[in-house]
Amino acid sequence: MCGIVGYIGERDAIPILIEGLKRLEYRGYDSAGLGFFSKGALNIIKNKGKVALLEEKINGHNHQSKIGIGHTRWATHGIPNETNAHPHFNKEKTLLVIHNGIIENYQPLKKILIGDGYEFKSETDTEVLVHLIDSFLKKGVTLFSAVRHALNQVEGTYGLAVLSCGEPDKIVVARKGSPLVLGIGENENFIASDVSALIAHTKQVVYLEDGEIAEVYKDHFRTKNIEDEEIQKEIIEVTMSIEQIDKGGYSTFMLKEIMEQPESVLNSMRGRLVHDDGTSKLGGLESVLNRIANSKRFIICACGTSWHSGMVGEYMFEQYLRIPTEVEYASEFRYRNPIIHPDDTIFFISQSGETADTLAAMKEAKRKGALVIGICNAVGSSIARDSDAGVYIHAGPEIGVASTKAFTAQLSVFALITLLLARRKDMSLIDGKKMVEEFQTIPGKIEKILKLEKQIEVIAEEFKNAKNFLYLGRGYNFPVALEGALKLKEISYIHAEGYPAAEMKHGPIALVDENMPVVFIAPKDSTYDKIISNIEEIKARKGKVIAIATEGDDDIDRLADYVIKIPETIRMLMPILSVIPLQLLAYHIAMKKGLNVDQPRNLAKSVTVE
Ligand code: G6P
Repeated sequence: MCGIVGYIGERDAIPILIEGLKRLEYRGYDSAGLGFFSKGALNIIKNKGKVALLEEKINGHNHQSKIGIGHTRWATHGIPNETNAHPHFNKEKTLLVIHNGIIENYQPLKKILIGDGYEFKSETDTEVLVHLIDSFLKKGVTLFSAVRHALNQVEGTYGLAVLSCGEPDKIVVARKGSPLVLGIGENENFIASDVSALIAHTKQVVYLEDGEIAEVYKDHFRTKNIEDEEIQKEIIEVTMSIEQIDKGGYSTFMLKEIMEQPESVLNSMRGRLVHDDGTSKLGGLESVLNRIANSKRFIICACGTSWHSGMVGEYMFEQYLRIPTEVEYASEFRYRNPIIHPDDTIFFISQSGETADTLAAMKEAKRKGALVIGICNAVGSSIARDSDAGVYIHAGPEIGVASTKAFTAQLSVFALITLLLARRKDMSLIDGKKMVEEFQTIPGKIEKILKLEKQIEVIAEEFKNAKNFLYLGRGYNFPVALEGALKLKEISYIHAEGYPAAEMKHGPIALVDENMPVVFIAPKDSTYDKIISNIEEIKARKGKVIAIATEGDDDIDRLADYVIKIPETIRMLMPILSVIPLQLLAYHIAMKKGLNVDQPRNLAKSVTVE
C-alpha cells in the first residue's frame, strides 16, 4: 500500500523515479510526488491523481537531479489532494519525507509539536514525522540520529525515506511493518517498497527488516537498528525479470494475468509432482513435515482472494486428511485472542506476503507456539521470510489489483500439500498416481476454457448494466462463488454476493426477479442434482441464470439462459477451472463499462495498513 522509490547516483534521477513509480502504481494511485535535490536545494513536485499526470507536470519543469525519492499514495489520513500527497517539507524546505504506513500516535505528537511552534499544512499523519525529525536535527544531531530518535517516539508502521539539505549525499530510509528494499548498483543505489521498481536497474537487493534504518549513499550503504547497533546485511540476487512485469502485448495486466494461467498453474506444480510415488515434493516443508502431519488441527488465515483460496484448502484438507481445519480472516484472528495450541499448524496465505493483518496474525500465532507456514507469491516478502517454513506459489508477479493467477496458483499449492500429506496417511499409491495424472491435465484444461472468451464477452454485454449479481455454488464451488462475486465487485463496481446455493432460500431469494442475474457454478459432481433444483427455484422467480457446467452436460441447457461448459476434473481441482470463466466475465463487464480494471477505485494491491 503506497509505493516508495528512490535513486542516488550519477544518472538523471527524475526519469528513473517516474519509471519506478509507474511500476509501483498498483500499490496506490490517488496521488503521486517526487522530492529531489536540484541546484543545491530540495524541491517537491506532486499532484492529485496518477503518475502520468505527475510526469506531465514534471515535463514542464527543467530540473536536473542525481538524488531523489518518489511516492504514489493510497490515502489513509486526509483526502487525496495535492497538499496531502507526499513528499512533505519542513517549514524551511530543508528536509523532506515520504512515508508508507500509519503513525498511530500522530495526534498526541502533533499537539506537542504545535505547542513547540510547528505549523501543519496537510491532514496526514506523515507530516508529524517531518517536524519530529526536524526538531531533533535542530538539536544538532546527524540526520540518521534524528530519524532514529524520531522513530523511537512513534507508534505504528512505516516505510520511510528522508532527504535533508544538511547531508545531501544520502537517503535515509527505515522500515517497520511496511516493506523497504535497497537496490545495489555500480556507483548508484536505489530504494523501493518492492523489487519491481528496481529490477530494470539491478538484481542485487537488500531487504530491510522491521526496526532497521539505513543510510544509502551512491557507492555504499550502512544499516543500524533502532537501538543504534550496526547490522551486517546480506545482498541477495532476485530472479524476477523485466518481461514478467510488462503487459507483454495485452491491453491490461489483468487480462495478461488471466491468460497466463495455464503457465502459472504449471509453474506452481513444476518439479513438485513425483509420478512414480504418486505424491508431491515440497522442499520448503520438508523440515517440518512430521510436525504438520501430526497436527491436531489446521488453521488457514488470510484476507481477500487469498481467504477464498483458504476456504478451498479447508475442503481439501478435511476431505483427504481428515484433519479439522478452520479458515480465519486475519484481521479478526489477530484481535480476538485466538485459542492456539502448539500442535496446531497455521497456514498464512498471501499473494504479496506483505498484507498487514496477515503478517500481524502470523506473528501472534508464532508467539503462541504454533507451527507457522507461509504460502506466498512475492519472493522474499515479509510473510515468506518470517514463517517457520513455506511454499512459494510461483505464479510470477501479479500487478492487476484484482487477483487472478495468484488465486489459481494458491489452489494448486493447496492441492499439492493435500496430496503430499494424504500419501503419508490413507491414500494408496494407485490413487496418488491418478491424482498426479489429473494435476498434469489442469494447465491444458485452463487453456481450453480461455478459448471461451468470446462467448463470455457476449454474456458480459447482456449483463453489463445489471445493478446486482448473485453467485451460487456448493461444496468446493461455494468459495468459487465468493471469489466470482468479489472479482465483479472489485472491478465493475456492481454489487455482487456469493452464497452457498442452498442458503439462497434463507434470504437472497427475496432479491430475485427478472432483473437479477444469478451465476451458478454447477459442474457434474455429487451435488449436481441439488444445484439443478436450486436453478429451478431461481427460474420459477424469473431470475436470469448463467451456469458454469461440465462439458457434455446438455440437460442444463434447457434450464439456464446461458451455459459455459468447462472440462471435467476431480472435485478438489474443479475450483481451478470453474473460477476462470468468472474472472473473464468480471473482466469483460468492467471493460464494457469503460473502467480501469488494473487500478479499480479505492483499492490497492498490497494492503500494508490495518
Ligand atoms: C487486497 C487486494 C486483493 C487481495 C488482498 C489480500 O485487498 O486488492 O486482491 O486478495 O489484498 O492480499 P494478499 O497479498 O495478502 O493475498
